[in-house]
Amino acid sequence: MKKYFVIGKPIDHSLSPKIHNYWIKQNKIEAIYYKKELDETDLREFIAMIRDKKIDGANVTIPFKKKVIPFLDVLSKEADQTQSVNTIYFDKGNLIGHNTDIIGFEQAIKATNFEIINKKIFILGAGGVVPSIIFALKKMNVSEIFVSNRTRKKAEDLKNYFNKINIVNWGDVPEFDVIINATSIGLKGEDKLHLDYSNLGKNKLFYDVIYNPSFTNFLKQGSNLGNKSENGKLMFIYQASAAFELWHGIKPKLNDEVFSLLSL
Ligand code: ATR
Repeated sequence: MKKYFVIGKPIDHSLSPKIHNYWIKQNKIEAIYYKKELDETDLREFIAMIRDKKIDGANVTIPFKKKVIPFLDVLSKEADQTQSVNTIYFDKGNLIGHNTDIIGFEQAIKATNFEIINKKIFILGAGGVVPSIIFALKKMNVSEIFVSNRTRKKAEDLKNYFNKINIVNWGDVPEFDVIINATSIGLKGEDKLHLDYSNLGKNKLFYDVIYNPSFTNFLKQGSNLGNKSENGKLMFIYQASAAFELWHGIKPKLNDEVFSLLSL
């Protein structure tokens, strides 16, 4: 029986076991996917178990996406450029770190049918997932990327990875076509971002990385102003799907049941 894990801290909220175990069963694979809360000091030992083939693969979530890197042998280009690993596997004697958040975000944006090429993008937040979002946006040939974060220094630090981004003061709103909430504001239902959209035209895309709750105040506001809105559910599903394909060599089906697994 093959064993897979998602590791993080906290990990209780993770829906990865639900979705992976569903696909494992659907595809009649002899495997099981667990969640495990680790301390940073446990990472070395945990990853050694993958090398020893006691574990067959792992997903990595907050706060370890960068911290696992020193224990790996090879990073994919995506993981290297974002310094963010969410999927680990062992291949031909190497422990490999990959980042499927990028393809997850890219496929989720494509699924909205919102034309993003040559568009101006405004990202709120500078936390763990933002380098992956910027990497995907660059790949999709957007024209400009603006980033705003409460702690400005963290937004400035992103320039070490992506030198062409523009930093905007927290609270300011530049002209944009797509706005992405990558902060944790909205996880609690009553959370609100206090931004002034009075100069905003219509036909924008409001995208929230959060998928639970499914319709955050941020998305409600965008939608009430006559814009398209989309939550992070598909991004989560597509990143899981890409990890599943890497490990099992099968592209899992995205059916209604998969969506309902994530409706809490
Ligand atoms: P981390 O920053 O540890 O990677 P994260 O969950 O990936 O954690 O990111 C949280 C994001 O939400 C950060 O951009 C954070 O801003 P700071 O860098 O200033 O902490 C943002 N955030 C969380 N609570 C916020 C709040 N009340 N107001 C504004 N931004 C907030």
